Amino acid sequence: MSADRPRLIRDQIYPAAAEARLAELFTTPAPPTGPADTATMLSLARSFEPAALLISHATRADAAFIAALPDSVKVIACVSVGIEHVDIPAARARGIMVTNTPDVLTDCNADLAMMLILGAARRASDYTAVMRAGWGRGFGMAEMLGMRVTGKRLGIVGMGRIGRAVAHRARGFDMTILYHNRRPLGPDQEQGAQYFADLRDMLPHCDILSLHLPGGDQPVMTRETFALLPKGALFVNAARGAHVDEDALIDALQSGHLFGAGLDVYRNEPNPDPRLLALPNLFMTPHMGSATHETRTDMACLAFENARRVIAGETPLTPVSG
Ligand code: DGY
Repeated sequence: MSADRPRLIRDQIYPAAAEARLAELFTTPAPPTGPADTATMLSLARSFEPAALLISHATRADAAFIAALPDSVKVIACVSVGIEHVDIPAARARGIMVTNTPDVLTDCNADLAMMLILGAARRASDYTAVMRAGWGRGFGMAEMLGMRVTGKRLGIVGMGRIGRAVAHRARGFDMTILYHNRRPLGPDQEQGAQYFADLRDMLPHCDILSLHLPGGDQPVMTRETFALLPKGALFVNAARGAHVDEDALIDALQSGHLFGAGLDVYRNEPNPDPRLLALPNLFMTPHMGSATHETRTDMACLAFENARRVIAGETPLTPVSG
């Protein structure tokens, strides 16, 4: 390790290509053996006095955490597009820049949302369970039927980069795109999708609903909003667990009001409500939207470059504003 490379600590081990780049750019303590918790990060920050912290969405940098960081810290580089885990005003008050990793994970997140739609619609968990049990039963014309996705009306809540990438993919399935967003998009980005200023007006028209909102603490999907979806609709969330009242979702799945759901995110990660795990019409993945070799490497390298630039007094590529 060279003394002239800036010091950095991180909460994660990265894919090999990113680890190699990290070693070229920064001086780091021994890598964590797995995801590091906030207490470990804080104690390391105090002893190592890094210029940069690299954190995933799973490390909560709240006001107390930020207040306890040594003065050496110039930048918190999030290896995530989501930034709800960082208290941005607290960081700003200490003169610490915050950056994130938009764009590089858009395609993989959109792919995963499509996987959730298809997995839930075509009962991927049930079919896998049948295979693991040895199959061994005859053809049943009316058995284990899923929901056709071709030509369905897909409602997208949050038409940012990922929402638009999902719409792009869904058009390949001849779906009609409806969307709710703070503002309508211009015609170039809208590409014929129908805008609804009020979510409640859109929900009754959705065969499938997919959330692509940034973090927030108030659920968008509640008993009231689930009830507005047509009976037999499909619900997908690859954004954040906090957007959903899980009691309401469980009831909607148990009662059959929803045909099924696909979730990548949960209110209580990494220990989701056990009632969710028991639902046969729920297709689940463990917060894996960006989890490909390529994307995780790109995310880490973008965060390194952001950190490098801030430390060098340059403008980072993707600063967090607001
Ligand atoms: C993000 O980037 O915010 C994803 O949820 C994974 O970290």
